[in-house]
Amino acid sequence: MRVAGCCINTGYGVRNRAGECYILDLKFGVMGMDFTRAGEASVKIKNALQLVGMEVETIRKAVVVAYEAELNIVIHARQGTLTARVQPDRVEILAVDAGQGIPDIALALQEGYSTAPPHIRKMGFGAGMGLPNINHCSNQLEIKSKVDSGTRLKAIIFNHKSGE
Ligand SMILES: Nc1ncnc2c1ncn2[C@@H]1O[C@H](COP(=O)(O)OP(=O)(O)OP(=O)(O)O)[C@@H](O)[C@H]1O
Ligand SMILES: [Mg+2]
Repeated sequence: MRVAGCCINTGYGVRNRAGECYILDLKFGVMGMDFTRAGEASVKIKNALQLVGMEVETIRKAVVVAYEAELNIVIHARQGTLTARVQPDRVEILAVDAGQGIPDIALALQEGYSTAPPHIRKMGFGAGMGLPNINHCSNQLEIKSKVDSGTRLKAIIFNHKSGE
């Protein structure tokens, strides 16, 4: 399968360095303040999840997580990567960036908390709902961050078959 603008491995038997097996492993570069391309990686992840036949609800949640994490890199960091790893029973979204980091993760997860400046709010961002949305859509969420260094967010969404 081909997806423009990213590294892609697909097919059963693809293994990462840890020896884990994926049906899909997509990695995109994301640039801070690049609003012309913001959201592109999430759209490509959505298309790929549809192609490999994940459940509609899994895709919906994974795309919310991917989009909000991608936009957080664009708005709050210098640069980063967005990775989607797909196994038959789950989607893992990994967002890693170099940037200012998050001093208080519990505070950042609260609905309505945002440090977005006025010019970002004028573009329609900065409601402080990205991380809460990610939290709601994830079955497992891990955020690690170091001030003045960067942030690593890992979310897992289980692929429950419809009717389960
Ligand atoms: N990758 C990141 N690097 C640095 N700070 C971040 C990052 N992601 C989130 N934050 C911090 O956490 C706050 C809350 O993030 P959240 O995504 O919930 O809201 P927002 O991005 O400000 O607004 P919205 O997502 O609703 O447009 C941000 O305002 C910012 O201070
Ligand atoms: Mg956000």
